[in-house]
Amino acid sequence: DGVFVGVDVGGTKVLAGVVDETGAVVRTARRATPGRRVDIAHVEDALEEAVLEAADGTPIAGVGVAAAGFVDAAGERVMFAPHLPWQGENVRDRLSRRWHAPVVLDNDANCAALAEWSYGAARGAASAVVVTMGTGIGGALLLGGRLVRGANGMAGEFGHMQVVPDGHACECGGRGCWEQYSSGNALVRSARQRMGEQPSVLEDATGGNPDRLTGPMVTDAAEAGDMVARAAFASVGDWLGVGVANLVAAFDPELVVVGGGVSQAGDRLLEPARHALQRSLVGSAHRVVPPIVSATLGPEAGLVGGAELARRAARPHG
Ligand code: BGC
Ligand code: NA
Ligand code: ZN
Repeated sequence: DGVFVGVDVGGTKVLAGVVDETGAVVRTARRATPGRRVDIAHVEDALEEAVLEAADGTPIAGVGVAAAGFVDAAGERVMFAPHLPWQGENVRDRLSRRWHAPVVLDNDANCAALAEWSYGAARGAASAVVVTMGTGIGGALLLGGRLVRGANGMAGEFGHMQVVPDGHACECGGRGCWEQYSSGNALVRSARQRMGEQPSVLEDATGGNPDRLTGPMVTDAAEAGDMVARAAFASVGDWLGVGVANLVAAFDPELVVVGGGVSQAGDRLLEPARHALQRSLVGSAHRVVPPIVSATLGPEAGLVGGAELARRAARPHG
């Protein structure tokens, strides 16, 4: 008895939600992610609060944690996370003690893929590449009707494929990672650079301080016709298509699903990506180039997938 709650732990925000057996989100609650150089207790406090607020006093049957990081094959530990402070802790047990409920832990993009596969854009697909664009880039791979996990449980870390040797420094410690060119952070960097070069409504939105620029500000400005914001989307969208072309060359999926906060911009992001895919994909004239589609569940996909995992774990035969 009780509700199943999914909680998506990203680099910017923690989003919890009660999800019913049809995959519908009943009630959500959010907190800011305290940061990646803070004590892990702060991040876990934010999770605890968001989940309790979403549950709203209802008993909790299980919690699915969708974490932006490298989760071990056992689903117990976050071994490493570029945007979060966990480093090998048994997050599953630590959180289970906080809520006095069973916890299931998986990578955020894997959870989003599971949700899109169960209820959304990848429903019925035998193969799909799923990319989530938030603070960073998350990835998941469905092949032969299964989620590919890899030897360490860490398959699908597409955001850290190197696309520019010696390029921008990445939070993972590497350089030139794809997520430095196509993600929420990349969108902000691209817009910030252009703000110095031409007039933009973003100057007002940030009160003249470019450090205050956020992804949603760029999305709104692009919607309002701002050329700086639109150019930032064109750049991030183009890089999205370049990375997707490499993934399609490797895995030949039926479709590519793009989710995460940045994908709220829809075709402003996906159209340049489609052009870049067509241009960059090997043999594109001799094959069916897969469609790039928006995640149906939007930014809630991760938490929906987390809750789905928790529900399945509670009824292993149902
Ligand atoms: C992390 C992934 C995560 C993604 C999206 C990346 O930087 O390495 O584990 O899925 O961000 O949050
Ligand atoms: Na993944
Ligand atoms: Zn990286």
